[in-house]
Formats: sequence, C-alpha cells, structure tokens
Amino acid sequence: MVVCESLRKWPPAVTTDRQVSKDFIIEPVKPGEKKLLLEKGAVCWLPVFAIHNDARFYPNPEKFDPERFSEENKHKINPSVYIPFGYGPRNCIGSRFALLEGKLLLSYILKNFEVVKTGKTKIPVVLDKTQINLASEGGMWLGFKKF
Ligand code: HEM
Repeated sequence: MVVCESLRKWPPAVTTDRQVSKDFIIEPVKPGEKKLLLEKGAVCWLPVFAIHNDARFYPNPEKFDPERFSEENKHKINPSVYIPFGYGPRNCIGSRFALLEGKLLLSYILKNFEVVKTGKTKIPVVLDKTQINLASEGGMWLGFKKF
C-alpha cells in the first residue's frame, strides 16, 4: 500500500507518450470547449503526474494516504488513472521486477536501520521546480541509524 501510494504521489515517469495511429476527435466536455483533432502521426504526451494528482480521481491528492490501496479501497481506482508503469500493451516491461526490487530494498533497510530526520531533511518533501523529472529540492537527505 505504501509503495503503491508513493508511486501515485511521486511517479518516477512524470509523462509517457503515444503516437496517434488514426485521426481521433476528443469531443468537448465543458461549455465553450472546442473539438480537439488528434491527427494521425502526431505524438501526444500523457501527463502521468497530473492524472495522479487530479482530485476527481484521488480526493485530497496532496495527502499521502496508503489506505487508498487497501483491500477495501483499491477496486475503486480506475486502472487507467493509476499509471506509474504506463498502460496497455506497451506498458513497462520491468514493472514486476522494479516492484520486487524496491520492496526487497525497503525491507532490508527497515530491518537494519531506523530512518531518522537529519538537519537537511525536508518534511514535507519540496519538489525541485528546475527539473523535468521529480526531484527533491536540495537532494533527498535521510539518516540511517543502525539497530
Ligand atoms: C520504479 C521503476 C520503474 C518505473 C516507474 C517505470 C516506468 C515506466 C513507464 C511509465 C514506461 C512507459 C509505459 C507506457 O508508456 O505505457 C516504461 C516502459 C518501459 N520500461 Fe519501465 N519503469 C520502471 C522500471 C523498469 C525496469 C526495472 C525495467 C527493466 C528491467 C524497465 C523496462 C522498461 C521497458 C523496456 C519499457 C518500454 C516498454 C515498451 O515500449 O514496450 N522499467 N517504464
């Protein structure tokens, strides 16, 4: 639940892209909007970070809330708006390996160390506005105290 929520709030791949295979029209939804033609051959960026932080899909999106992914709640999430590893036939080929590796690493760290605040640790994390990828302003500083 914690890993899923971390990947929602801070998806390492903030966007992905697709090439349009045939002309497609996105119909207006709100009053005053125009039709949008996606022409065959155009490349579209899909804003993963924005979708994961959209309050229509994730109420109170700023809140780090692993309970969103509990057994009772996870079925309420539409899989097309939870896309840290992309979506469809060209989604991430390494997603299972990445999750296994990440969980293993986390369990080894938490088994052997207490993770503590240092003078440089920022809580909450402040995102660096000068980078396209998600990064913590000034770096990600944590202290590891051996048990
Ligand atoms: C937390 C770690 C990772 C994240 C968040 C991530 C995320 C992504 C995303 C968003 C895509 C694009 C999918 C789409 O557009 O639908 C992608 C594609 C891909 N990823 Fe990952 N990835 C991760 C780790 C890995 C690892 C460990 C490997 C290999 C061992 C890997 C191999 C690939 C490959 C080969 C593609 C291209 C797949 C294709 O075009 O068919 N990824 N990944």
